[in-house]
Amino acid sequence: MSDSRLLDMLLSRPGEYISGEEISRKLSISRTAVWKQINKLREEGYEFEAVSRKGYRLVSKPEKLEYSTLLQAFSTVSFGRTLKLMDVTTSTQEEVRLLAEHGASEGTLVIAEEQTIGRGRQGRKWHSPAGKGIWMSLLLRPQLPLSAAPQLTLLTAVAVCRAVRAVTGIGVGIKWPNDLLVRGRKICGILLESVGEDEMIRYCIAGIGIDANLEPDDLPPELASIATSLQIESGRKVDRAVLIGAVMTEMEKLYGLYMEEGFAPIGHLWEALSVTTGQHITVKTAQGEVSGRAVGLEERGGLLVMQEDDSLTTIFSGEVHFDGCNP
Ligand code: BTN
Repeated sequence: MSDSRLLDMLLSRPGEYISGEEISRKLSISRTAVWKQINKLREEGYEFEAVSRKGYRLVSKPEKLEYSTLLQAFSTVSFGRTLKLMDVTTSTQEEVRLLAEHGASEGTLVIAEEQTIGRGRQGRKWHSPAGKGIWMSLLLRPQLPLSAAPQLTLLTAVAVCRAVRAVTGIGVGIKWPNDLLVRGRKICGILLESVGEDEMIRYCIAGIGIDANLEPDDLPPELASIATSLQIESGRKVDRAVLIGAVMTEMEKLYGLYMEEGFAPIGHLWEALSVTTGQHITVKTAQGEVSGRAVGLEERGGLLVMQEDDSLTTIFSGEVHFDGCNP
């Protein structure tokens, strides 16, 4: 965490340069400590101009999500109406799990500005820097068998994809089952965790991570060539509250449709946004690798792959790799 005294000093003198020497003297810290504090604040989303012999000037503050703006952005009946907004947490998945165990209602949403142990699929970490992304988890309580959970994963991908397209105009597509890609790079990951009893779902936690306003420097080296952000792609900052509102609207609408009509309409919407269908792919599954052409979804949400010998295989879980360039 940054030292709040330095921030207070900079905020109290808007537009003014304050020299490192003055800061160091007034806060009784070394010049190196001043520089470190400035870098910490930069990581938290503050932007500074540093000019030699003049000092530091605060240029902009991070835009923090606020309850009031979020609630204004929501046009839902229940999704997101019970809202917990946090500066920092380990993982919003964990927060929702605790709320669910204490009886929280369907549609409860937890959003964090930063996650310290963000969880990805297959035990991976999810990079969740402060103030830059959308890190949120939504509680669902469908009265369905556990076997329906993969369909909810696809439903979530469709909802987020439609919301991102509507708000930003960026041509995002879905890689099976639920990664959102732009120009072959990931901008969003979805983690659906289910808790069941006697083969029925007790609750599901739909975790959504959107790389909204990350800049190239916010991506660690291992992600630089495989991930991107909405800001990098469009050259503009996205209003996170508006996008969260749009995701909630799509989620509520599609969830209602799914409960009334089953998976078929969701499957069609998924197909329309898929960048997987028609591609030559290799899928790494627990049983080994399957290669062939992705031909679409089957009714339970599995991916149909036509292998070289023309046999059709259905994949229910695995990691898709495109055999050419990423679409
Ligand atoms: C993936 O690996 O693609 C899934 C990433 C899911 C990340 C989101 S961010 C909000 C929620 N909290 C977590 O810890 N993970 C999910």
